[in-house]
Amino acid sequence: TGLITLDPGYGNTGSCRSAITFIDGEQGILRYRGIPIEQFDAAPNFVEVAWLLIFGHLPSPEEYDTFAADLTGCANLDEGMKHHFEGFPRTAPPMAILSAMINALSCFHPEIFELQDKDSVRIAAAGLISKIRTIAAYAYRHSKGLPYIYPDPKLRYVPNFLHMMFSQPYEHHVCEPIVRDALNLILLLHADHEQNCSTSTVRMVGSSQANLFASCAAGVCALWGPLHGGANVAVLEMLEQIHQGQMTPDDYVRLAKDKDSKVRLMGFGHRVYRNFDPRARMLAKIAEQLLPQLGVKDPLLDIARRLEEIALEDPYFVERQLYPNVDFYSGIILRAIGIPVSMFTVIFAIGRLPGWIAHWWEQEQTPGNKIARPRQIYIGPPETDRVQLSERR
Ligand code: CMC
Repeated sequence: TGLITLDPGYGNTGSCRSAITFIDGEQGILRYRGIPIEQFDAAPNFVEVAWLLIFGHLPSPEEYDTFAADLTGCANLDEGMKHHFEGFPRTAPPMAILSAMINALSCFHPEIFELQDKDSVRIAAAGLISKIRTIAAYAYRHSKGLPYIYPDPKLRYVPNFLHMMFSQPYEHHVCEPIVRDALNLILLLHADHEQNCSTSTVRMVGSSQANLFASCAAGVCALWGPLHGGANVAVLEMLEQIHQGQMTPDDYVRLAKDKDSKVRLMGFGHRVYRNFDPRARMLAKIAEQLLPQLGVKDPLLDIARRLEEIALEDPYFVERQLYPNVDFYSGIILRAIGIPVSMFTVIFAIGRLPGWIAHWWEQEQTPGNKIARPRQIYIGPPETDRVQLSERR
């Protein structure tokens, strides 16, 4: 054990070489394949970013059209999969359904066990990126006892998702361009973040040569927790709690600083960023613009602004370099466009999926890839004799 270095939470362990995403946590920089994320602000397009992350370059018009057609072509779930939804209680957490159904996809698509070249990966990636949206919408419809709405081949990625979520059988949900752009931006800002908990999980599972769907199903589970993707729900709950008058923003910040309270200021702090999370900056700006454009006056936005103001001046947060992260404002935007809180972490999963696929594929292509197998420092008893059951007291 003398040679093993203990690194709880792997904060100082490089687990792989990767060419996908660059983060400079000190300066608050995030780039996808070298492109600063701020450059995706105008005409945001999640599908373009998905391609970029998985295949390493911006798609040519032809590549884009082929990928978009693949996404449209495989949006439907096998009818057999629909029966699985019926088996879940209405109250089932959508993240549980999402993970189970992504895993179940490998039963319906045996070609997933044979991914070898770029074309087969492109088709599998498009299948998963397209179907995760259908699964998510069906999980929501199931929770409400509503009929499932089939994907509409005439609609693009985001409007089709909102259609499957919110249309009634004889009435199409109308997706405003500002809503389409906001959701595209949210999805693409979540699309990759190098070796975070869920992506490392996908790589770890994939390192045993488990298939892409199984690896991504594991990623959904890792994302679920409140310290990772579940934080967007926790932020909303925190803001609601303050809004309901149970606490003032100052009281909440005081509690978050008290180590005995176990309360944290949700949506604040990050393992890598010691500066503003650039995604939070962009989302704060969108929240400011979108809410008035939609005619939404949300008191939670004022509370979020006030919390941010207090925390950014408080020595506790300043000394620890805790700044708003991606989850701080995303919930307010999702709420304004009508996404229920129960679906917030699912939206994060839909967004993060291209990153998981990109990392799984990068790892597959890396020569000499090894199974992930960290060591430990044993702290249990020394060699001890077994006492026969009859002699134990
Ligand atoms: N509120 C109050 N104190 C905090 C917070 C917070 N949100 N975040 C960190 N701290 C304190 C922590 O108690 C510790 O203090 P001390 O040094 O006195 O013990 C210090 O700051 C360092 O924190 P840490 O827990 O060692 O940092 P970490 O890198 O292990 O954790 C984190 C990162 C994101 C889990 C954490 O900041 C946190 O729990 N934030 C709230 C949850 C959240 O917003 N999560 C979303 C993260 S971004 C999106 C994603 O990855 O999913």
